[in-house]
Amino acid sequence: MNTPFRIGVLGSGKGSNFVAIADAVAAGKIPAEIAIVLSDVENAGILAHARERKIPAQFIAPGQFRTKLDEDAERAFVAVLQNTQVDLIVLAGFMRVLKGDFLRAFAGRIVNIHPSLLPCFPGLQSWKQAIDHGVKVAGCTVHFVDAGVDSGAIIGQAAVPVLDDDTPETLHQRIHAAEHELYPRCVAALARKEISVVGRRVVWKKV
Ligand code: GAR
Repeated sequence: MNTPFRIGVLGSGKGSNFVAIADAVAAGKIPAEIAIVLSDVENAGILAHARERKIPAQFIAPGQFRTKLDEDAERAFVAVLQNTQVDLIVLAGFMRVLKGDFLRAFAGRIVNIHPSLLPCFPGLQSWKQAIDHGVKVAGCTVHFVDAGVDSGAIIGQAAVPVLDDDTPETLHQRIHAAEHELYPRCVAALARKEISVVGRRVVWKKV
């Protein structure tokens, strides 16, 4: 029997993308098992959602920095993910930048969702950056994680319109809804090994 494809999910927030992915797994749309959910925020909604679904969920204290894990925290995250034998790490609203040792431990096996059409508006509050810039089309991007910020090879994107009366909040909601469709679709393709990377280009096998 084939061993199931094992996913580890990292998140810092309410976990709506995790819920979309977990629902897709439960519905048989993603041939995988969510083996663990980790958070750097003790009371994060994502941990509660995981526990409701009886998925192992763990808080790991991030240490002294605001935007990255300190050395001990990084070691702890890597150890848990290695012991859990995950095949893929899915960042779902994980708000810390991953650095060298973490990236080396899981090279080519970490993906992220970002709330903009990259390479536009990397970094924080991309929906607000989109409104402030006045773009007419916004969206979300699923990409491999590399050593830069939101700079890895792009796996998939979905576009949404920016309406004249949008506020950052209404645009964020529309982007979020697009994320909940895009991320499970990309994770399913990764679990089915339907994706290959040629330089910066990610190619989807025709099925
Ligand atoms: C999502 O909009 C995701 O794109 C964003 O955080 C939100 C998490 O929502 N991620 C980033 O900004 C990463 N730089 P969720 O906790 O409800 O899934």
